[in-house]
Amino acid sequence: MTIQVAVLIVAAGSGERAGGSIPKQYQMVAGKSLLEHSVSRFCSHPKVDTVQVVIHPDHLPYYQSIAALHDLPKPVPGGSTRQDSVRFGLAALSEQSPRFILIHDAARPFPSHALIDRILVALESHEAVIPVLPVNDTIKQISGNSVERTLDRSLLSMAQTPQGFHFAMISSLHQQFQNEPCTDDAMLAEKAGIIVATVAGEATLTKITYASDMEEVNRMMSGVVEHRVGMGFDTHRLIPHDPDSIKGKQSVILCGVHIPHDKKLEGHSDADVGYHALVDAMLGAIAAGDIGIHFPPTDPKWRGAYSSRFVVHALGLLKEKSATIQNIDLTFICEKPHISNHRDAMIKNISHLLNLDPSRINIKATTTEKMGFTGRGEGIAAQAVVSVRIG
Ligand code: CTP
Ligand code: MG
Repeated sequence: MTIQVAVLIVAAGSGERAGGSIPKQYQMVAGKSLLEHSVSRFCSHPKVDTVQVVIHPDHLPYYQSIAALHDLPKPVPGGSTRQDSVRFGLAALSEQSPRFILIHDAARPFPSHALIDRILVALESHEAVIPVLPVNDTIKQISGNSVERTLDRSLLSMAQTPQGFHFAMISSLHQQFQNEPCTDDAMLAEKAGIIVATVAGEATLTKITYASDMEEVNRMMSGVVEHRVGMGFDTHRLIPHDPDSIKGKQSVILCGVHIPHDKKLEGHSDADVGYHALVDAMLGAIAAGDIGIHFPPTDPKWRGAYSSRFVVHALGLLKEKSATIQNIDLTFICEKPHISNHRDAMIKNISHLLNLDPSRINIKATTTEKMGFTGRGEGIAAQAVVSVRIG
């Protein structure tokens, strides 16, 4: 299948210059490793179809926790130079043959969605696009300890990553020039006489090379990670099944699980009160209103819709805000049906929909001791709490 936009993150270096007991790309800043910061920024970008990471085989244990939280293809083992690592990564993507590729260094943890957008827009009209920053210091050419001359800094720019290319072009150049060392991928396009366009880079995207850079980025990010909570509540009325419904198939749908029951839930969609409470909690955590705003009951489009669609839509809104779900706690309030036998199936459904580890999802149920509408079996209520991390 042809995909539009692939990202290749090279993370196979050993981080010699940064030192520390674990390689720099796996060191933590603001709650995530450097590599996970860029993985999650690319994964949450709506235009990115796949993110391929190249890692050092010895680093697999560090990589596991990132793989568990993100939907990533198997990592590709890197080579002894950055250039080799990029070439191996491109080879792994050749079958999918994306239209555009963004090649990125794990050592630059904070590519913004706005920057990714700038590059993707420019790739529509250029074969190669790189982010650059102006040089603000006066630049001297030196020899030993003395200055040879002052360079005209207006002619100079600092190149960053991600660098964007038309995939077929950069793949074949990486093959062609594999024995000619280069320090970034745009150099290959330059060698081949291809025009490399520039877009504005970002000061926060500087590369982490030394331990002092890591300290600086820790200072910059301290307190930037934000934790938020959303809550959702929903009820649906229990009503008799349609007279023509097949007896053995009569059920209610809770968190996508069909549970046999002698009444059905009344509603415009599939009346999945569990998913509705979950969606409201997700929307609440990012101040995005409620389910009625996003899926108006008056819109015939949602008639009979499976509520899993609402959950997936809400997840997309969370991603736009760089919000990652930390955990979900969902409570059903009803006398019947009994929830406990179906908990695992519900957790599995939510885990699949949200790409969230089951250990972060809790489903529980309570009765109201036969009191009130739930106690009398007139309806089912559900409430959910979702906590998210932003950034
Ligand atoms: N890289 C890679 N494969 C290599 C060497 C580097 O994938 N054989 C990656 C690094 O993981 C990094 C990026 O290329 O994300 C830029 O390299 P650099 O900043 O030099 O990182 P390291 O090589 O890890 O650091 P050092 O040179 O200090 O050892
Ligand atoms: Mg290096």
